[in-house]
Amino acid sequence: MLPLKEKDKPIVRKLLSSGCCARCVLRFCCVSVQAAYRKPPQDTLKELQAFISNTENSTSQESAADSTEENSKSHDAAVSEPLGEPPNKRVKLEPVGTEEEEEAAAPAVAKLKEEESSVCVACLGILQELCGSTQAVKIAERVKTEKYEFDTVVLSVSLPAQLCVREHSCWLHVKKELREKSMAVDKDNAVQVKEAFKWIMQGLVAKELGGVVVVARSLFEVSVEFTHPETDADCHFLASTCADCFKSTKNKQSVFTRMAVVKALEKISDAVFLKHYACPPAQPTSSCSPQYVQCLHVSIFIAGRYNKFSRCLPQTPWVIDGERRMESSVEELIAAPVLSSFRADGFNFSSSGREDVDVRTLGNGRPFAMELLNPHRSRLSKVEMKQLQETINESSDKIRVRDLQIVSREAMSRMKEGEEDKTKSYTALVWTRKPIQSDDIAFIDDIKDLTLDQKTPLRVLHRRALAVRQRVVHRMNTRFLDSHHFYLELKTQAGTYIKEFVHGDFGRTKPNLSVLLKTDTDILELDVESVDVDWPPSIPE
Ligand SMILES: *[C@@H]1O[C@H](CO)[C@@H](O)[C@H](O)[C@H]1NC(C)=O
Ligand SMILES: *[C@@H]1O[C@H](CO)[C@@H](O)[C@H](O)[C@H]1NC(C)=O
Ligand SMILES: *[C@@H]1O[C@H](CO)[C@@H](O)[C@H](O)[C@H]1NC(C)=O
Ligand SMILES: [Zn+2]
Repeated sequence: MLPLKEKDKPIVRKLLSSGCCARCVLRFCCVSVQAAYRKPPQDTLKELQAFISNTENSTSQESAADSTEENSKSHDAAVSEPLGEPPNKRVKLEPVGTEEEEEAAAPAVAKLKEEESSVCVACLGILQELCGSTQAVKIAERVKTEKYEFDTVVLSVSLPAQLCVREHSCWLHVKKELREKSMAVDKDNAVQVKEAFKWIMQGLVAKELGGVVVVARSLFEVSVEFTHPETDADCHFLASTCADCFKSTKNKQSVFTRMAVVKALEKISDAVFLKHYACPPAQPTSSCSPQYVQCLHVSIFIAGRYNKFSRCLPQTPWVIDGERRMESSVEELIAAPVLSSFRADGFNFSSSGREDVDVRTLGNGRPFAMELLNPHRSRLSKVEMKQLQETINESSDKIRVRDLQIVSREAMSRMKEGEEDKTKSYTALVWTRKPIQSDDIAFIDDIKDLTLDQKTPLRVLHRRALAVRQRVVHRMNTRFLDSHHFYLELKTQAGTYIKEFVHGDFGRTKPNLSVLLKTDTDILELDVESVDVDWPPSIPE
């Protein structure tokens, strides 16, 4: 039995005769029993028919009201009849055949016969033939071709905006009827097309996908999009009644978005709406077009540390005036194998600081993290993760990675937290104009916590604002090489410009190695020895 009440009878009758499908009738009657929607729609239609036939039989007063309604319609000043519309009788009543055993008990039970064109005026077929096991199979097939790995799935539905207009029209149609009977319209508790579609389809799709769980929230989303070009113009009159609601935006194909249409419908008066739009809505000739199914897995994040052994490898693709300057980059060398392992559509790379193209990163490497967009796989076993690391290691001799792991989005932000407070260690190869002996540089080893004032270096001025910032060189160590060269090892606060400290940057870094050694100095090579960020956690071999 359908959970319908006496007060629903006029609504059911009104909607059925206006060309609403059985499931839409349930929606408008605020039936929230999910099982009612999962029944075959033909059965529901029969039940609805039996329900109103009973009424016609028992309360002749109501059926009288119904028959006068058609006549009174033309007298209603607010209602403009749709031009050239055929009568909105979509279902014909005919006496029940003897084969309907269970209904035979009710003598006046009538049977509904659908006409050839029976696409629902309210859902445009979405809750009719577009909602059932055939469609569930199609959706599942589409998901399967993409070979995603997932435990749960959430189904989402995108509907043509004109459904709002049609729904509104149906409500006005019902409202008029109820007003005549002094009944209130319970619009807020009505069931949305989206909702009903999910109630019916979730279980069916889950079954087709081999029993995965369809849940309200999942990392994996299958969205089903319906369009109905035939009735796209339904929304157009709203542009003249609420111009403000439809502002064109660059990235939207149409100004008639669902949001905008809902907003315009909130503002429009019933009388104005009825002047422009048929009530009930006109019968469409076709259902919504075959639905567009899109799968999306939320991003996952992986982190690790990388070494860079090349002095001609930028961290990210280096493009000047649209032209590529170096054939590869750290980011691309790491991303290629990672993307293919996780079968992701794209990535977003970030790291704890970055080195110049000519700087190597040695030691334990530099922490990095990557967002993987729409990954088709979201988990790797320890062994697979190690294999991935090996693939990256062997793909070139320019980089290596370690501590590769999946991390959370939140954990990723820890990499950037307090970056300024961290320390980094470097080795610089220094040239001196004046000949030196090891004794001449030994004093540098005793300098502790030297504070530098660094004006934004000339080489980065084009992308950074001009400012003076203070950075601390915590410790230095020298290794004499020959009369014009020595290695300088430094442990500094993160963000110290090492090259500028060595050559002075035309007086922009003070003090500098040149003033300490009382001779011109320059930097020939620089290596990052360690980036002292304790994230991501190291992974024991
Ligand atoms: C990459 O990350 C940045 C910042 O976290 C974000 O604004 C951007 O939208 C991301 N790009 C993609 C393609 O997700
Ligand atoms: C990749 O190279 C790094 C750095 O040399 C090393 O620590 C790591 O163990 C290597 N990983 C694999 C799986 O080869
Ligand atoms: C080094 O710093 C001093 C001040 O400490 C400054 O006078 C000098 O110009 C700088 N040297 C170079 C080469 O920039
Ligand atoms: Zn419908």
